[in-house]
Amino acid sequence: MNTSVFETYESEVRSYCRHFPTVFTKAVGAEFYDEDGNKYIDFFCGAGAVNYGHNNPEIKKKLIEYLESDGIIHALDMYTIPKREFIETFEEKILKPRGLNYKIQFPGPTGTNANEAALKLARKVKGRQNVFALMGAFHGMTLGSLALTTDKSSRRGAGVGLDDVTFIPAPYMFPELDTVAYMQRLIDDDHSGVEKPAALFIETIQAEGGIRVFDAEWLQAVRRFCNDNDILLVVDDVQVGCCRSGSFFSFERAGIVPDIVTMSKSIGGYGMPLSITLFKPELDIWSPGEHNGTFRGNQLAFIAAKGGIEYMLANKVDEQSKAKGEIVKKFVEERILPVDSRIELRGLGLIWGIDFEKIPVKGLADKIEETCFSHGLIIEGAGRKNSVVKIMPPLVISEELLLKGLEIIEQSVKEELAKL
Ligand SMILES: Cc1ncc(COP(=O)(O)O)c(C=O)c1O
Repeated sequence: MNTSVFETYESEVRSYCRHFPTVFTKAVGAEFYDEDGNKYIDFFCGAGAVNYGHNNPEIKKKLIEYLESDGIIHALDMYTIPKREFIETFEEKILKPRGLNYKIQFPGPTGTNANEAALKLARKVKGRQNVFALMGAFHGMTLGSLALTTDKSSRRGAGVGLDDVTFIPAPYMFPELDTVAYMQRLIDDDHSGVEKPAALFIETIQAEGGIRVFDAEWLQAVRRFCNDNDILLVVDDVQVGCCRSGSFFSFERAGIVPDIVTMSKSIGGYGMPLSITLFKPELDIWSPGEHNGTFRGNQLAFIAAKGGIEYMLANKVDEQSKAKGEIVKKFVEERILPVDSRIELRGLGLIWGIDFEKIPVKGLADKIEETCFSHGLIIEGAGRKNSVVKIMPPLVISEELLLKGLEIIEQSVKEELAKL
C-alpha cells in the first residue's frame, strides 16, 4: 500500500483517509476493495451519498448509454432533456403522490450549497436576518451553513464571526424543557435579547449530532410554532432523506409539510454530485441569476437522480430501509447492549447509533471503529466527543452482509472493552 503521495502533497485537511488508511480501487453494492486485494463491508455509505449501492448496475446502464450518446454534460442551468426528465419524475413520482407542491432550485452540487440557498431565500422572503437552529446541528461547512452548525472544531475553521443564528437546545438535551415554549418566549419577551428569526432550520434526525431522532409530536409542535409566528420551517434532509429514515422524506412520519426542504447526497442516485432546494411556490421571489453557480445541475447527475428514483420505487427501498433497520435494532439489543449496561442505542430506518458516551474512556468509539476497520468494516463516528458509532450502510445491502458487519462491530466492541 503506497500512500506517500497523499501524505506528501495533499493538504493536512484530509480526514476520512486517516480513518481508513488504504488505497481503494473499486466498490460494488455495499462492499469496497483496496489495492492490496482486501474487501471491506461498507457501513458508511459515502456519508449517505450511495443509498442505492455503489455502482448500482441499473443506474450505471443509464449513465453509460447517456455518455455513449454524446449527451450534453455541462449546461449550467440551461434547459436539457435530463433536467426535464428528472423534474418530471420528481414531480410525478415523489411530490404529487405525497400531495406536496414545491418549486425546485438547483444550487451548487453539495448539501451546503442547498442550505446556503435556503438561508438566503428565507432571509430575503421574511426580511429578517436572524435564524434559529438547534444545538447538535450539522448543516455544512460554507460560512452560512457553518453558522448553523454547532460543533466547535468545524466552527473554529471559519476565521470570521458566524453570526445571525440563535441556537435552541435540542429536545433531548433537557428533557424537562419545553423547547417550543422556550422559542415562543424568546420571541415574545421584549427582554430576551433575541431577534425574531426568518426561519427555523432542523434535521428531523440529527445525524452528525449523534443519531438523535426527534419524535413526531415535537416535529408537529415545531410546525405549529412556525405557522403561528410567521417563521419558515426548513428541513435539512441532506443526510436522512432518500429513504434513509424509512420514507423518502424524513418528515413524512410526522405528517408535516416544511416550507423549505434541502436535499443532496443520495438524491444524486449513484454518488453523483447534485443538490436541490425545494420551497413553496409563494416563496419563489428570486430574481433571475440572483443565486448562481457554474456547476448547477450536472447532466450526468440528473440521469443518475432519475435512475435512482426509478430504482428506489421498483425495489421498494423505503421498505428495505425499515426492515433492515429492525435487523440492526434486534442484533444490537441482543448482542451488543448486554456487553455493558452503559451502552445506548438510537435510530430509525437504517441509521443507527451505538453511543458509548457513558463509558468514561476518551476516544473509545474511535478505537472501536479502528478495530472494525482492521476486521474489514468501514464505519464512522458521530455525536458529542465522537462517542457514537454510526451504522449507515447502503439501503440495498444484503441481509447476509448486514449481519456480517454487525458481527464485526460486536467483536470489536468486546475486544476494546476487554482492554479497559
Ligand atoms: C444534515 C446535513 N446537512 C448538510 C450537510 C453538508 O453536505 P455537503 O458535505 O455535501 O456540503 C451534511 C453533510 O454531512 C449533512 O449531514
